[in-house]
Amino acid sequence: MRRPVIAGNWKMYKTANETRAFFRAFLSEVSRPTHCDILVAPPFPALPVAVECTRDFGIGIAAQNLYWEPEGAFTGEVSARMLVDAGCRAVIVGHSERRQFFGETDESVERKTKAALDSGLTPIVCVGELLSERESHLTEAVLKGQFEGGLAALTPAEFSRILIAYEPVWAIGTGRTATPEIAAEAHRYIRSLAAARFTSEHASALRILYGGSVKPENIKGLMLQKEIDGALVGGASLEPKSFAAIVNNW
Ligand code: PGA
Repeated sequence: MRRPVIAGNWKMYKTANETRAFFRAFLSEVSRPTHCDILVAPPFPALPVAVECTRDFGIGIAAQNLYWEPEGAFTGEVSARMLVDAGCRAVIVGHSERRQFFGETDESVERKTKAALDSGLTPIVCVGELLSERESHLTEAVLKGQFEGGLAALTPAEFSRILIAYEPVWAIGTGRTATPEIAAEAHRYIRSLAAARFTSEHASALRILYGGSVKPENIKGLMLQKEIDGALVGGASLEPKSFAAIVNNW
């Protein structure tokens, strides 16, 4: 049995005060906080407040990015060690917005994933195809390239500690969710890549989250797919009620 994970990616939204207000409302709305792992990824400056607000509730705080060096002259960057020190448990790596707008590559995903693991953080590694790639029947080729470029160099022990988020880029922030069947098909393919590179035990233990316009209205359909082990939620994680509804409905 894979334990579900519901993760919120706040992107570049919310100050420290807004974070405090969010958790005050969210924590009173979540009815069963222990049936799944809950992670929230605020922007860097709000991390300490998020950690403080969630300490007694078993909610994990994640960062949205990291740099692989432990420290040094790298203006604007934040290391895994600093995230651990701030109280983070996890970190999103290779989100499509980082790939599209900030030049993230499969190589940087690999280095960041390793750095996160070396510091004891759980990397949430994002993969997913563009609309043009899906329309050209390249989805599997893209996923294979991202898996091999970003993850194949991990040791089996390292691989068993990561989460993968399948986020088709055409479904992110567009209101256009992949159907549960489309998502499940991609998840099955990712699992087959894990089985081929590692072992079938690694593949069946791997938790793969779906991301892309997840909302309270579509979470039930997604969770019915046994291939889907949770969700990475952007827009709908910003409102305490809608994020709590997603958690409560899983
Ligand atoms: P969305 O974002 O839920 O707003 O589509 C998902 C994500 O980018 O992780």
